[in-house]
Amino acid sequence: MNFQQILATVAEDFAAVDHYILNHLDSRVPLVMQVGHYLVEGGGKRLRPLLSLLAARATGYQGDKHIPLAAIIEMLHTATLIHDDVVDESDLRRGRATVNSAWNNATAVLVGDFLISRAFQLILDLEIPSISRLIADGTLVIAEGEVMQLINKRDPDTTEARYMEVIYGKTAQLFVTAAEGGAILGDINMRQALHDYAMHFGAAFQIIDDVLDYESSAEEMGKNVGDDLAEGKPTLPLIQAMKIAAPEDAQLIRQAIMTGGLERLQDILRIIRESGALDYCRQRAKEESDAAKAALDMLTPSPYREAMFALLDLGLNRTS
Ligand code: IPE
Ligand code: IPE
Ligand code: MG
Ligand code: MG
Repeated sequence: MNFQQILATVAEDFAAVDHYILNHLDSRVPLVMQVGHYLVEGGGKRLRPLLSLLAARATGYQGDKHIPLAAIIEMLHTATLIHDDVVDESDLRRGRATVNSAWNNATAVLVGDFLISRAFQLILDLEIPSISRLIADGTLVIAEGEVMQLINKRDPDTTEARYMEVIYGKTAQLFVTAAEGGAILGDINMRQALHDYAMHFGAAFQIIDDVLDYESSAEEMGKNVGDDLAEGKPTLPLIQAMKIAAPEDAQLIRQAIMTGGLERLQDILRIIRESGALDYCRQRAKEESDAAKAALDMLTPSPYREAMFALLDLGLNRTS
């Protein structure tokens, strides 16, 4: 299944999610609407809402509350990206200037807050207490993940285990919330299976994101390469390269993490390439992805389950 075939399984629902989001960005403050539309219309893969839709249908859900659920998840995702770009001082997102760069940090923080508040209004409209609880708990874990990452910043002794803890929180948790929400609507007995699927998928997705930050291009990703190094973020490519590179090369990476900045980017790219650190990262992502696949065995076979299966390979092989 390619991406078009995956989308085709929930095509109408997918279009409805976009409408739902655009219809709920209204505010009496024009700047809020302007900024809201700016990022939403910048596109994005809409992967997490897709997970909600597929999880609901794969667990037999026949109603239409998965549309607002998916829209809420994407709004929360968008808010975390707006805030993340302030924290990471990033300038490019979805092929456009970030909100902090096109406007300023204050605007980005406040409009991100607006999106989170709007999402919580929409959660209440759903009137499903277990989903309200799921999302409240999930967003808390995401915030903790971002704070843990902040603590690791510029710390070259960050271990792979600590890195994994961060990415399970900041990234995999929203995948989990998206998918578990679908199971709450469809078949609650499938909740754990979808939790495991999404947790491992999210981890694989972030590891690949961290690889692309050293390997891809701004044109392809719609984000700048080297953003992670610029802020001294000890991601898996660097953690692994420090483990296996020659001592003087490892020392160079240590120094770059401690100071941040892109001065040594070319050297670091060479060390990462020569050491084979990215192969290791891809292997770790594949292990996570395989664990996610195994979790899908619990689900009844359906085109939706197949789509969830196929998404994993696309996640591993993606270039943006
Ligand atoms: C970006 O997520 C943040 C990460 C977890 C790496 P996506 O790569 O899904 O971003 P969009 O929504 O497609 O822009
Ligand atoms: C993911 O981390 C951010 C969130 C989960 C909010 P990154 O900082 O790597 O994401 P990008 O690369 O900016 O999209
Ligand atoms: Mg970032
Ligand atoms: Mg990144």
